[in-house]
Amino acid sequence: MRVLVVGGGAREHAIARTLSIAGAELVHIAPHTNPGIARLARATARSEITDADAVVTFAERQEIDYAVIGPEAALAAGVTDALRAAEISVVGPSASGARIESSKLFCRELLARNGVGGQPRFEAPRSLEEVDALAERFGGPFVVKPSGLTAGKGVWVQGSDFIEAKEGAAYAKSLLVQGQRVLLEEKLVGEEFSLMAFVTDSGIYPMPAVQDFKRALEGDKGGNTGGMGAYSQRDHLLPFLPAADRDAAVEIIRQSVAALRTEGIEYRGILYGGFMLTAQGPKLVEFNARFGDPESINVLSLYEEGNFDELMFGVASGRVDPNLVRFRLRSTVLKYIVPPGYGDKPHAGGILRLDEPAIEAAGVHVYFGSVEEVGPSAMQLGSGRGIALVGEASAIHEAGTRVETALAHVQGEFYVRHDIGTNEDLARRREHMRQILSPGAKPSPLPLSVAPAAAPPSSAASPDRFL
Ligand code: AMP
Ligand code: GLY
Repeated sequence: MRVLVVGGGAREHAIARTLSIAGAELVHIAPHTNPGIARLARATARSEITDADAVVTFAERQEIDYAVIGPEAALAAGVTDALRAAEISVVGPSASGARIESSKLFCRELLARNGVGGQPRFEAPRSLEEVDALAERFGGPFVVKPSGLTAGKGVWVQGSDFIEAKEGAAYAKSLLVQGQRVLLEEKLVGEEFSLMAFVTDSGIYPMPAVQDFKRALEGDKGGNTGGMGAYSQRDHLLPFLPAADRDAAVEIIRQSVAALRTEGIEYRGILYGGFMLTAQGPKLVEFNARFGDPESINVLSLYEEGNFDELMFGVASGRVDPNLVRFRLRSTVLKYIVPPGYGDKPHAGGILRLDEPAIEAAGVHVYFGSVEEVGPSAMQLGSGRGIALVGEASAIHEAGTRVETALAHVQGEFYVRHDIGTNEDLARRREHMRQILSPGAKPSPLPLSVAPAAAPPSSAASPDRFL
């Protein structure tokens, strides 16, 4: 089939590559050329991905069978609605469905109205006076977030981004003054994980769980970013995430899709829950209406070769064959190569020299994001996340070691979080979760390995049997 991929980051490169392995014919639209997608696509158009007319014109000219939309901005701008009006099927919700991500207030109110569990307490002040009053009597640490899209960067968490309640209040007021709606939310404490699902008319089909590293610097220091890297575990759980809690998160996704339907919103696409595993079980941090970046790159690297085109067409058409939802039982580690200063003041323009054959020979896949090809094996970094390297192995730390080996084949000035997927980091997260579940417990000695129990080599998902 002929597929239009909308968006030009490493996530879209992973979508394009997985489709292309399945034999799909690719056409691509994005503001910049993506060096990875350019190698795969038979036609490319340069346009803002929020320009619905440009996307529809290109889609019609290319006579595509369906489209896959990567970035939230295109969904929020109604590109899906415009394509569907032209009778083109799309993986991605309409603008009304995408509000589950583009308006955090809409999301929280929708879920509260429909009694969906796993929600933190929240308030949505309308005036400066109300902010002061609510911050003062919130009754515990809180988080301040603008309701609209912020690329994961607008959230301030008490204890890391601000200390005193009045500092949080000042930030909330600065957002209100700019005309934005703002939420004060109960601060959730625990370990975060991402769980994405394919959502169709016939049900939801979850993907393996992933842990994203949002903070810019090692040891989870620095500001929030779109995500510096991520890992997934062979059994599709995480070192700190048991099956029962993963299933509880799936149930929150299922109830949320039902809530959308109850309110007349059909949803065909990807729904991505950002969860916090707390002492009370998983709680919803936020929903995204699309594939995660980087999480989907981990997950798509595990997709059983051959059928992704059919699966995506099934999502776009509203009905999926559960046997197509198949992910290999292997661990993955992804690290993003970013410009120095990323997360604060990125220094764009540096040149990287990449020995791609040597990287692939190390068992690591390369996905291009915010880079421009400026010569043979030479990439110029933009200001965003540049190149994702994904290693795969039986144990998480082995996958991480593969990426570290591959990094020796990248020359130039860049930053990367070396701590992602190390045994030390995994043990720290398990210990963090243990302390949350039994505060005051004696620290356990760090385990030498965090490999999960042996599992069969492959799995298929059905609405009733999750991975
Ligand atoms: P979001 O844009 O909602 O994903 O928020 C970005 C990051 O802020 C999340 O990944 C969390 O690390 C943090 N965050 C957001 N909401 C909360 C919350 N209610 N409690 C604790 N941390 C949060
Ligand atoms: N990794 C976070 C996101 O895709 O929003």
